[in-house]
Amino acid sequence: MHPFFHPLTALPRTRTLAVALLASALSLPAAFGADSASLPPLGPDWKLQNPYRGNAAAAAVGKTMFDEYCVRCHAADATGRGSVGANLQLVGRFCRRIADDALQQRCLADADDFFKRSVQEGKVRLAITYMPPWKDVLSQEEIWAVRTYVETLGQTSRDGDRR
Ligand code: HEC
Repeated sequence: MHPFFHPLTALPRTRTLAVALLASALSLPAAFGADSASLPPLGPDWKLQNPYRGNAAAAAVGKTMFDEYCVRCHAADATGRGSVGANLQLVGRFCRRIADDALQQRCLADADDFFKRSVQEGKVRLAITYMPPWKDVLSQEEIWAVRTYVETLGQTSRDGDRR
């Protein structure tokens, strides 16, 4: 056997590396970003619409949550491009073009509801988990903060419309 390779000495080193990788995967980047405790509390009942829409501070918290929990599947710009997730920029995008204010509010409420339910329940069909449920991980405040952040993305590009 080659003098520099012996299975008994090589093995522990590999295991040390695996443990180090696992430890770094479990570290919580949220600790370094905007804090969700700063969000205005919403109480136990779920809002029918995103109560933080247009709130820059909530969007900043949402970015922290998004980067921690969503970015690996939905990509940095939330289009899902190059990854497995759906394009989140499209959720409710059509509503912005509705001129009638009351109708636009109903459209946005519907899109918010779809977003909220998708995140809460995840996407599980025929026992295949496309997206895990987040209701035990993220609070109502955090889910709306993520929605607020995603709504700030792609506002200047019309790219999402074409897909
Ligand atoms: C493990 C990968 C994964 C992670 C992590 C993930 N998602 Fe998803 N998500 C998906 C996939 C895949 C779909 C499309 C599922 C389908 O086919 O219906 C999806 C769909 C969605 C939808 C529905 C969009 C639509 O138009 O159908 C929303 C909203 C959503 N995700 C939000 C989020 C948010 C917010 C997070 C972070 C808290 C997140 N996702 C984390 C994989 C993921």
